Amino acid sequence: MFSKKLDCILSKKSEDIPPFYVMEVLESAQALEAEGRNIIHLEIGEPDFPTAPHICEAATAAMVRGNTKYTHSQGLLSLREAIVESYLQKFGVDLSPEQVIVTSGTSPALLMVFMALLENQDEVIMANPYYACYPNFVKYLGGTPVYVYTNETKGFALEPGTVRQYLSPNTKAILVNSPANPTGHVMSAESLEGLAEIAEELNIPIISDEIYQGLVYSGEEHCILEYTDKAFVLNGFSKLYAMTGWRLGYIICPKECIRALQKLQQNFFICANSFVQEAGIAALKGPQEHVAEMVETYNMRRQYVLKRLIEIGLDVRSEPMGAFYVLADARKFSNDSLELSRRILNEAGVAVTPGIDFGEGAEGYLRFSYANSLENIKEGMDRLAAFFEKELEV
Ligand SMILES: Cc1ncc(COP(=O)(O)O)c(C=O)c1O
Repeated sequence: MFSKKLDCILSKKSEDIPPFYVMEVLESAQALEAEGRNIIHLEIGEPDFPTAPHICEAATAAMVRGNTKYTHSQGLLSLREAIVESYLQKFGVDLSPEQVIVTSGTSPALLMVFMALLENQDEVIMANPYYACYPNFVKYLGGTPVYVYTNETKGFALEPGTVRQYLSPNTKAILVNSPANPTGHVMSAESLEGLAEIAEELNIPIISDEIYQGLVYSGEEHCILEYTDKAFVLNGFSKLYAMTGWRLGYIICPKECIRALQKLQQNFFICANSFVQEAGIAALKGPQEHVAEMVETYNMRRQYVLKRLIEIGLDVRSEPMGAFYVLADARKFSNDSLELSRRILNEAGVAVTPGIDFGEGAEGYLRFSYANSLENIKEGMDRLAAFFEKELEV
């Protein structure tokens, strides 16, 4: 009588969604730690820095002041003004606070934009390797991801000329991510301009995930809004301001699409956390020296990781210029990145992300995050060197 289990009622699409493997690696690593093993974490894309004190204080003060109620569905006007001001300062683009919708992180922002755009058969063009969750959002909402396999020797750049070959009558949007996870690629002005031309010509939007904005170590950084207003820009506070757990992000959307997105926000999320929004204002308007220090530290770690990975025998054919990842080719050791990362975790005590999490274009690769202290990174690299040396002996 009680033999039936409830999983038979789950929707097919919820059963079919793949796991976010990096979270599974993290959870396996945590299980080993609970057994007393020492694990070096090079898998997770989470700043090891604490959130700056002035940001924490702003949230506490807001709570004490009683800012614990729902806000406007689009977010506090003062935060939206600060966001608009930051885009004006950085990129010279003139936006209105009306165009901003504050969300509980960039992930809900992605969900809302895809919800607003996609219907069955709609295609979203994206680079492969990609951020693991992109195709899962698209497929869950009935769309189809269309992959443009990018070339490592060209820094995994998504080139407008190649994108044009994948356009079809079903193309609904082109998704870009710069600086990129997992490749560290930073898009050039020419590439963004070329994509903007496609957007203008065909009246399709560019969805631009800028969550790693500011984490650029060499060369210039540009924003799609410098070239077209046919764009949905997604950004957040998780990475640059070391605020992953606060869950704060935003969408900048074309004026004619605000109302649709606002209605989605009202129905599904109501608004982002009120006192967290005040922390966001402090992050944008407060001192920025700590941010510059973090960026400098990431850069030192990036150079160290690159040097060590190459010494170890992994191949990195173009220097990643942004975010905090190195995607290294491990195919001379194995073509099965999931199995290889499991062995590295169990045998060497180092958690790394299997390339397959980021699509077929990264199978046989491993992603190393340098959002960890130099001391831990050194220890991790020593362990990896010993692991791969043994592999070569076999
Ligand atoms: C490319 C990319 N987009 C979005 C996210 C999600 O960020 P958030 O913490 O703002 O939801 C991540 C997180 O790792 C990411 O790497």
